[in-house]
Amino acid sequence: MNIVTAKGLTKDYGPLRAVDNIDFEIFKGECFGFLGPNGAGKTSVMRIIHCLMPPTSGDVAVFGMSVIEKPSQIKSKIGVMPQDDNLDPDLSVFENLIVYARYFDIPRKDSSQLAWELLEFLGLKDKADVKIRSLSGGMKRRLLLSRALINNPELLVLDEPTTGLDPHSRLIVWEKLDYLKSKNTTLILTTHYMEEAEKLCDRVAIMDSGKIIAIDSPLRLMGMHGGSLEDVYLKLTGRPLES
Ligand SMILES: Nc1ncnc2c1ncn2[C@@H]1O[C@H](COP(=O)(O)OP(=O)(O)O)[C@@H](O)[C@H]1O
Ligand SMILES: [Mg+2]
Repeated sequence: MNIVTAKGLTKDYGPLRAVDNIDFEIFKGECFGFLGPNGAGKTSVMRIIHCLMPPTSGDVAVFGMSVIEKPSQIKSKIGVMPQDDNLDPDLSVFENLIVYARYFDIPRKDSSQLAWELLEFLGLKDKADVKIRSLSGGMKRRLLLSRALINNPELLVLDEPTTGLDPHSRLIVWEKLDYLKSKNTTLILTTHYMEEAEKLCDRVAIMDSGKIIAIDSPLRLMGMHGGSLEDVYLKLTGRPLES
């Protein structure tokens, strides 16, 4: 069953075509990765999927609903971890989760319990009362992931979940994403780390200049083109994928 179906998806920013007429399907329970260098269009695709902005043309169906027609219904069912930290710096770790829970109309007594569970899940319980500004980068990413889980989403959209993380925090995030996958949560992530794509993703779409140049499982892509995913990218584009 498809959780996401994109057809002819295009996004222009003025004269710049950031996403260029792409089609893809994402199936229930899989981890699907968009892999590509900076500027490839990954974040634009993510933002359209989680209804932060509409496509210029084409459409995406999420849970069978068009992102153009049913953005609020879609948003209520997905969890989003944005590329940039948009936590409220004036609030504590715990309060950030509680405030976010209000968007989903989660009653206060439930959100409080949920927040504790999620802080426990991401190893942040002892940071509950700490202000955001005193968290490390790794802790902020983990908090963004716990926040994304507050509405118990069937689909998680993760934009560069581990970029800039120290190896310890990266391992924690990988482990939690693996666990969520084992619970049948569908994961969509972007990354420019080959290792992350190989380790987590059932299938990857390799993006370059707004286009998808290959979609398949990492193993099949590497088998077809020889070498690592990095070599696959080099072979398809003639350029190395810097990370
Ligand atoms: N809000 C915006 N306004 C203008 N250009 C943008 C905007 N967001 C992204 N872009 C441009 O669109 C292209 C794709 O960006 P993005 O989707 O962020 O790619 P990625 O996440 O793969 O780095 C880049 O050239 C970027 O500079
Ligand atoms: Mg991006």
